[in-house]
Amino acid sequence: MGRRIATAALLLFGLNALKGVVALDNGLAITPQMGWNTWNSFGCSLNETVILDAAEKLVSLGFKDLGYEYVVLDDCWSAGRNASGYLVPDPAKFPNGIDGLAEKIHALGLKIGIYSSAGTMTCARYAGSLGYEEKDAALWASWGIDYLKYDNCYNQGQEGTPKLSYDRYNAMGQALNKTGRPILYSLCNWGVDGPWNFASTIANSWRTSGDLLNTWDRDDANCPCSELEGLDCKTPGYKCSILNVINKAVYYPSKAFPGAWNDLDMLQVGNGGLTDDEAVAHMSLWAAFKSPLLMTNVLSNIDPPTLSILQNPAVLAVSQDPVGSSVNRIWRYYVDDVDANGYGEIQLFSGGLAGGDQLVLLLNAGSKDRTMNATLEDIFWEDGPGGTASQVQQSWDVYDLWANRMSNETAAAIINAANSTGSAAPAAPINMTALGGAKHVYSQVPPSDSKALMGTKVGSVQPSGTVKAFVKAHGVAMLRLRQQSQKKDEL
Ligand code: GAL
Repeated sequence: MGRRIATAALLLFGLNALKGVVALDNGLAITPQMGWNTWNSFGCSLNETVILDAAEKLVSLGFKDLGYEYVVLDDCWSAGRNASGYLVPDPAKFPNGIDGLAEKIHALGLKIGIYSSAGTMTCARYAGSLGYEEKDAALWASWGIDYLKYDNCYNQGQEGTPKLSYDRYNAMGQALNKTGRPILYSLCNWGVDGPWNFASTIANSWRTSGDLLNTWDRDDANCPCSELEGLDCKTPGYKCSILNVINKAVYYPSKAFPGAWNDLDMLQVGNGGLTDDEAVAHMSLWAAFKSPLLMTNVLSNIDPPTLSILQNPAVLAVSQDPVGSSVNRIWRYYVDDVDANGYGEIQLFSGGLAGGDQLVLLLNAGSKDRTMNATLEDIFWEDGPGGTASQVQQSWDVYDLWANRMSNETAAAIINAANSTGSAAPAAPINMTALGGAKHVYSQVPPSDSKALMGTKVGSVQPSGTVKAFVKAHGVAMLRLRQQSQKKDEL
């Protein structure tokens, strides 16, 4: 009885807490948004054909089924403003208008996003929305737009204090709310003025640093981050490597919560600059940090390894986990085998998941493969120094979330089927539709025997024990710990 009351109270508390914190109160991005964006692969060469092609591929390759739902147009879609001050889509790129495109994207069961800047011009010098917030939001809503990525170029110097940035971005947030249409608001000011401190009440996500380069790591004056060299990791920087973005994001994981996420920038998986291990690490880290997952690769020529990285349901379940809390970095050590930037490092990240599970991410950013260790005391450090007795004194099963990565043969079969018949994937990793849809599946605690959602059990760890994992250079081990059933409770 006592236990029941406690559970009910917890549930009530949970619901109220959620209600109170949802950004914008627009009910969107309760888990980090997933989708595809034009920018990294198409830049200003976007048009209706390439966007519809990507949208169709999201469906036929099985991405939609796994939860990738937003198709986002980035910069360069407009032809300026008309005499009444309304934005006009480029007629050569969008012969059916953006409303015509939106209709087709909606007919595929997907959602459509658009882009502008909180400045007089966008970064590619197209018309910006500063001073036109209400007009633009109303127009986008009338077109059926579901998502806005809102950039920071040409902002007329209206930044430099959190208040200046807040006011400028709040104007668009208010305008979007006023339309009455739920429009996911993705703020893109590259971390200037610390959006993690001011944006959670007005936006669903905010970029934490400059654009993510298609590279694992580099010694970069544009995006400094080395404690060894005395460089400040808290400066947002621009043109950042994967490792630099992570080393900056570690300072504010607690600022993210359901409806309001730290955006580490769009995925570079499949864009050619990363080794397979690096791409796996990139995907794992973004899921663990609860960053939005926006793919940017060309879906019409996706290769099997890329498909299998982007379509691992066990990793997507971490991203979309209902608890919605980012991992924390527990430790970072420098190692002797150096990287391109002159040093190597290893890190442990840990965070809570639904059902009392714990995510453990071991990152090896050294240049040699190595066995890495994490004690339960460290893994549960965030619950109090040394962890809590109730967690450290338990036995845990350890699941490797990448163990059941789709084989290249299966991935190739999916790609061939999508290319030849345009039909849905024949061998998708998990049948989400049969299970009630991606959102439903991810909102549940995955059953221990679900190979797709739990990977494979690779061992267990005893009370006060240590998790050990072999981690390739520039790679991760992504492990899910599940408490073993307690015999004494069952008696
Ligand atoms: C940058 C932004 C990129 C992309 C680009 C378009 O400021 O960070 O993600 O949107 O502008 O010009």
